[in-house]
Amino acid sequence: MSENKGIYYITTPIYYPSDNLHIGHTYCTVMADAMARFKRALGYDVRFLTGTDEHGQKIQKIAEENHVTPQAYVDKIVGGVKDLWKTMEISYDDFIRTTEPRHVKRVQAIFKKMYDKGDIYLGRYEGMYCTPCESFWTENQLVDGKCPDCGRPVEKASEEAYFFRLSKYQDRILENFKKNPDFLQPETRRNEMISFVEQGLEDLCISRTSFDWGIPVPINEKHVIYVWLDALTNYITALGYPDDTALFDKYWPANVHLVGKEIVRFHSIIWPAMLMSLDLPLPKQVLGHGWLLIDGGKMSKSKGNVVDPVKLIDRYGVDALKYFLLREYTFGQDGVFTNEVMLKRMNYDLANDLGNLVSRTVAMIEKYDQGIVPPAGETGEHDGELKEIAVGAAAKVEEQMDAFKFNMALEEIWVLVRRANKYIDETAPWVLAKSEADKARLDAVMHNLAESLRIISILISPFMHTTASRIRGQIGLADQEPAWKDASVFDMMGGEKVKKGDPIFPRLDIKKELAALEKLHQETADSVAVKGSARKAAGKKNAAKDAAKELKEAAQAGGGQNGKPQIAYEDFAKLDLRVGTILSCEKHPKADKLLVFQVDMGTETRQIVSGIAQYYKPEETVGKQVVVVANLAPRKLRGVESQGMILFADKRNDGRDGYAFVTSGAVNGSAVE
Ligand code: MSP
Repeated sequence: MSENKGIYYITTPIYYPSDNLHIGHTYCTVMADAMARFKRALGYDVRFLTGTDEHGQKIQKIAEENHVTPQAYVDKIVGGVKDLWKTMEISYDDFIRTTEPRHVKRVQAIFKKMYDKGDIYLGRYEGMYCTPCESFWTENQLVDGKCPDCGRPVEKASEEAYFFRLSKYQDRILENFKKNPDFLQPETRRNEMISFVEQGLEDLCISRTSFDWGIPVPINEKHVIYVWLDALTNYITALGYPDDTALFDKYWPANVHLVGKEIVRFHSIIWPAMLMSLDLPLPKQVLGHGWLLIDGGKMSKSKGNVVDPVKLIDRYGVDALKYFLLREYTFGQDGVFTNEVMLKRMNYDLANDLGNLVSRTVAMIEKYDQGIVPPAGETGEHDGELKEIAVGAAAKVEEQMDAFKFNMALEEIWVLVRRANKYIDETAPWVLAKSEADKARLDAVMHNLAESLRIISILISPFMHTTASRIRGQIGLADQEPAWKDASVFDMMGGEKVKKGDPIFPRLDIKKELAALEKLHQETADSVAVKGSARKAAGKKNAAKDAAKELKEAAQAGGGQNGKPQIAYEDFAKLDLRVGTILSCEKHPKADKLLVFQVDMGTETRQIVSGIAQYYKPEETVGKQVVVVANLAPRKLRGVESQGMILFADKRNDGRDGYAFVTSGAVNGSAVE
């Protein structure tokens, strides 16, 4: 570690242990981890906090459904969360569970302080009440005016509850947004929050009597503290506030709370108001990131489209997954997850660009220099540009990381990776090796490549530290820890013994991997379906509730028709839409609803399976032109491979039910843009 640059306290949200975490949850934690490691590398005294948010009615209900106590339920899930972070080499300094005694007693002390100050009062909570579920709902949460959990009618009711005087802090909250433009980013979220506060803040209900899985209100044990006061305070109870303040004095206020976009309001309005009530400084920054979407919407268990990070790590390794998450998505925006995009990133950037650079360089140093890295030597034509990019990369990475642009930080590193690969082609060491007269130049080229790899290993270490060590092992630097300042210096190497190892990222057969992932996915979906029907049997309508909630969330997130979220042009551009003509069509041998088409795509014939057998006879479809999603991962439908998807309009104009064909008059194979 270099000189101490100061304190850096970074947090993730604390996750609900209602189910195992999916890849969307790992996204935020991977970013926080990369930032924590990066700041440590720069010499900051870093504290990185994560944890789990374990109380509340939802957890209580799930535990009941599983016939275990809430504590036993969360203990099991939290064990899995900790295992996941261990597998993913997440370098947190503390993991807080809201059921831990240290948190419970501190939340009670915080409640008491706010109450003594006059910021908490007893009132009545009004809402729509479902008697069988013993649950209060807001109008917004209802589905068709009924209980979102069981679908039964609800009635207006009220219960005694404690309230926090959020309205008292309205002006100061607004002032904070206006005075500190960086307090909340991205800008769009900031504007949303400002207009939310300007419409007026209502006092916040912070206790419940209708369930008991929570922290008892210290002055009235009939009530439990309602989940957001319990949850948000984790950021300071984990530092010992209010009774053991050594860590608190050192690390508070937090430099950054990283949170998903839907909980920005809690972190940028409610949390600051609570801190104001406690006379404590506010966090310096709240950063709201976007969601990873799948199939045009949020991942959800009920849809069976949840991506399990463990399965991807088992197949591709932790670093490949971390790289993909950090490189592919733009902070603050939603991004679409597909297996194909992930596999291409892994293949192109990791196996091809970085993997090849390492294996080529080490192999050449073994071949031309008996495995010993030569010292700096004779300079030649392309050296200047390579060196300039190499020593300048660290500053560029720092600049991007300051703006939380993880993808751009990695891109800066890959500028060097690609430049170094090009340098090999330009200098053609295999030609230099033919003449003894060129030996000095050949050695210099080998030195420059080893230097580039040394710098790359330092630069990637916050993002993929295991890969960084593997590269360092191969270039003979196994026993030296990477030091960030050394990334801006060239010509440090000479005399190290290189050691060829396995390829750091093996090349993937994308077609094969897509099929394997689809199979894994199907297995998960099947097991979810089995669980889902068990839940239904228990009289629950969670799937309907989830679907309705998603539509609402998508609409809130700026969604369009069908409740699908708005997408960026780049997302649209990922689709390869092409015209084809149906050459022949047969009934699917095993499924009544499916037809199997052979489609002339101009340069090839594709077999595509579609679920329209109830609307068309096979012979009716022959000769029709169709639009095909040509880059959809192939998948088997009841045993028959479908290599794409035909698009139909979902309403016909001939009075019949079903789907309509939508094109004619185009050249087969032409793109639909
Ligand atoms: N327990 C609260 C947070 C309290 S913080 C004091 C909570 N938990 S959560 O488990 O539902 O969500 C935790 C975080 O995961 C949120 O920031 C949320 O945005 C994030 N994500 C959940 N699904 C996600 C994606 N599909 N993509 C990206 N992030 C996602 O809210």
